[in-house]
Amino acid sequence: MAEAVRVKNIGLRGVTVADTKISFIDGDQGILIYRGYRIEELAQKSSYLETAYLLLEGNLPGKQHLEAFTREVVGARELPKGLLESFKQWPRGSHPMDVIQASVPILAMADPELNAETREAGVRKGIRLVSRLPGVVAAWHRIRRGLEPVPADDKLSHAANFLWQLNGEKPDEEMAHDLDVCLVLHADHTFNASTFACREVASTRAHMYAAVAAGVGALSGSLHGGANAQVMKMLQELEGEKDIAGWVKRQLDQGQRIMGMGHAVYKTNDPRANFLREIALRLGSKLGQEKWPRLSTQLEKAAIAEFEKRGQPTIKPNVDFFSAPVYHLMGIPADLMTPIFAISRIAGWCAHIIEEALGEAQEKPTLYRPKAEYVGNYCGLTGCSYEPLQTRG
Ligand SMILES: CC(C)(COP(=O)(O)OP(=O)(O)OC[C@H]1O[C@@H](n2cnc3c(N)ncnc32)[C@H](O)[C@@H]1OP(=O)(O)O)[C@@H](O)C(=O)NCCC(=O)NCCS
Repeated sequence: MAEAVRVKNIGLRGVTVADTKISFIDGDQGILIYRGYRIEELAQKSSYLETAYLLLEGNLPGKQHLEAFTREVVGARELPKGLLESFKQWPRGSHPMDVIQASVPILAMADPELNAETREAGVRKGIRLVSRLPGVVAAWHRIRRGLEPVPADDKLSHAANFLWQLNGEKPDEEMAHDLDVCLVLHADHTFNASTFACREVASTRAHMYAAVAAGVGALSGSLHGGANAQVMKMLQELEGEKDIAGWVKRQLDQGQRIMGMGHAVYKTNDPRANFLREIALRLGSKLGQEKWPRLSTQLEKAAIAEFEKRGQPTIKPNVDFFSAPVYHLMGIPADLMTPIFAISRIAGWCAHIIEEALGEAQEKPTLYRPKAEYVGNYCGLTGCSYEPLQTRG
């Protein structure tokens, strides 16, 4: 049993709550590492499925292992028929994050190994989730527009197949590659809010899908994964704005946050944002739509300058700041931006759930149970006197 430590830290900033072998951040130097490998190297040289293998299995695969893993992902893409049928009954205005969160238990019911607790079964469940979440998002996007879902194309890469199932058109190869890089960049990020939510649920010995559903809920929030959609909203609001610096100042004076800026751990540039800025600039010039990356970089400059003036020089763009214009340039609507985060982060979530459930990085699996300081109504240990309803007035 771990020794009780008397600390209060609202928001758990800087509190170490577990050990992990999956990823590491140096927030002062802007370094992110998955299983020992720098994110820059993975973004340049790896692919999303290879990165998913790395996160789930703990090491880079050999050629045959990657081929087998890819075959398993591709082979698991078909969604349970009942799920697609039920999509047709769901309110078309439902947010895709709610649709993912509602679909996860349905995928659970279709998983033959739902309650199997071995590492191998955990990885197979992770593979099914990695395989199926993109299909959930694509099918929902089509059904909500009155279109039929598009069957997967086994010859396409993970990202290319997602774009194909979303749009029903073969995607541009460079764009599919850029999306694959985005998926690599978002695949894991230590104990962020959604991963911690997954691990917290996994620590109760609930199954993987129950833990993932919690992660999806946490990711949907605007201070977490939901920020990318808010960034897009902000950029659209700024279209035509002549005085971006003035706009930033007004926002901050009104106590508003600049979405996509700041990070609980990074106190310097987020290494993922650097890649995404580059992709946004390149895609913008390739498509002749420089407006969005230009606006983003102008806003970035103005916000950094204003934060510096206010004595907050560590607030810099995070992963969501440039992923919004990148996805927008790919033709992805704003409410699918957080779902794309989810279809990437699913690999990290599953890796963390396995690690948590099996206690792989620490002595043994341990249920999370923090304390809270009670600051509510208090009449002493005998309790307040309970007045019957009839006489309470
Ligand atoms: C992500 C985030 C919650 C991290 O915040 P944090 O540094 O851990 O802690 P706090 O939320 O307490 O912020 C610390 C201070 O910086 C300010 N701050 C941080 N990010 C800010 C932002 N994007 N815009 C305006 N102010 C910001 C806060 O207002 C706070 O100031 P205060 O101490 O005067 O109240 C925060 O940066 C944020 O809300 N960013 C916008 C949402 C976002 O992009 N989320 C995605 C994260 S990947």
